[in-house]
Amino acid sequence: MRKQPEEHAQNWDLRHEDFNDNDFLYDVYSVMRDRAPFAHTDVPFLSATPGGAWVAVRYADCYKILQDWEHFSSNPTPEASEQLAGDLIITLDPPRQQKFRKVLNPYFSPARMKALTPQIRGETDRLIDTFISDGAGDLADVAWRQPGIVFFKYLLGMPIDDVPLCIELTDTALNGQTEEARMAAWGGLYQHIHGAVSARSGAPPQDDMIDVLLAAEIDGEKLSFADVVSNAMLLVQAGLETTASAMSFAFHYLATHPEERDRLIREPDIMPKAVEELIRYGGSIHGIPRTVAKEVVLNGHTFCPGESVLVNYASANRDAIEFPGADRCVLDRQANRHLGFGAGVHRCLGSNLARLEFRIGIEQVLTRMPDYELAPGKDAVFHGNSVTRGYRRLPVVFSPGERSTE
Ligand code: HEM
Repeated sequence: MRKQPEEHAQNWDLRHEDFNDNDFLYDVYSVMRDRAPFAHTDVPFLSATPGGAWVAVRYADCYKILQDWEHFSSNPTPEASEQLAGDLIITLDPPRQQKFRKVLNPYFSPARMKALTPQIRGETDRLIDTFISDGAGDLADVAWRQPGIVFFKYLLGMPIDDVPLCIELTDTALNGQTEEARMAAWGGLYQHIHGAVSARSGAPPQDDMIDVLLAAEIDGEKLSFADVVSNAMLLVQAGLETTASAMSFAFHYLATHPEERDRLIREPDIMPKAVEELIRYGGSIHGIPRTVAKEVVLNGHTFCPGESVLVNYASANRDAIEFPGADRCVLDRQANRHLGFGAGVHRCLGSNLARLEFRIGIEQVLTRMPDYELAPGKDAVFHGNSVTRGYRRLPVVFSPGERSTE
């Protein structure tokens, strides 16, 4: 029998089976936000502190923590740092973290990402082509494969034949059934990326992410080979499943709200706002940790050095104090300072790419299968791991169409 929201709120465990019902998870967040500024979990993910972790669930507190890197450091706790390999941008604090960003930022600029539009559209169309003439297909495949293809093929410049295997390995590494399977997949992925970086030595530059990392100089020193590989691995973790989860959620929302789907087709001008709102509402990331570096009081609560605090972006994004009607998806929501991409010094580096992939995914589906809906009698399968949540199976039906390529 399902536990009451109040019981879950006392000791939040994102991996609990009750949360396969995503709406129920948000009911629990609502209780957590009402009860106290900070909730607690004895079963923290990503930061293995023996005492568990505090969980920031209200918008204003999450925002303040993300801005205040001097008290809330991105350096992991000693227990969690044992699992880390190398100097990773997401686990550094300024000033070194800012120097990393300076190197990577130009690569992720809006103009540079926008230039990938035809490639992303083409790859999305090829995925839709695999089922468009059948009048039935699985949209989770589009959501999960498109960001992976774009990343490995265009950002990392991996050999085309390696791309499907790398996507498979990433999926197993993040979602494999056992710890053994996950570790083996990380090992396999590491080997592939290691191989791709090694292959560049002495080769002509390709002007992709690997070349940017290889050329990077921080404090007058090049990144070590291991740090180049580790940061490429971080980008795999940061960029694939997050985008895939958000996209799958949007496909599901529009399939189950045909009036909203039709509105987006009728009013394409609202697309930029709809992208932000679907990212806010879908809440693909539920927690990233900070470590308390110096004692600090926030909203009446004293945080002590060494404690772990999880910032729950998804809960913050449903806080009615910041978002009127927070539990409703309003496609043209006007003020929308959502935390889906974080805030402060670690604000998502790939948000321009994520928005582009996400928007093109929705545009191509709405253009090519405008009447799509969930397939009767077939279940959409929702999946949550310790970081992101989205749909892994999304069977849909629609009026068959033409393939875009032969
Ligand atoms: C919808 C998709 C995405 C979502 C929801 C998302 C969300 C986030 C969030 C919340 C953070 C802040 C983490 C923190 O506060 O510690 C972040 C950071 C980051 N994201 Fe994304 N992300 C997405 C897509 C991407 C993509 C496509 C890439 C690159 C390929 C990417 C690369 C990064 C990197 C490198 C950081 C760390 C930046 C730093 O530490 O300075 N993300 N992302």
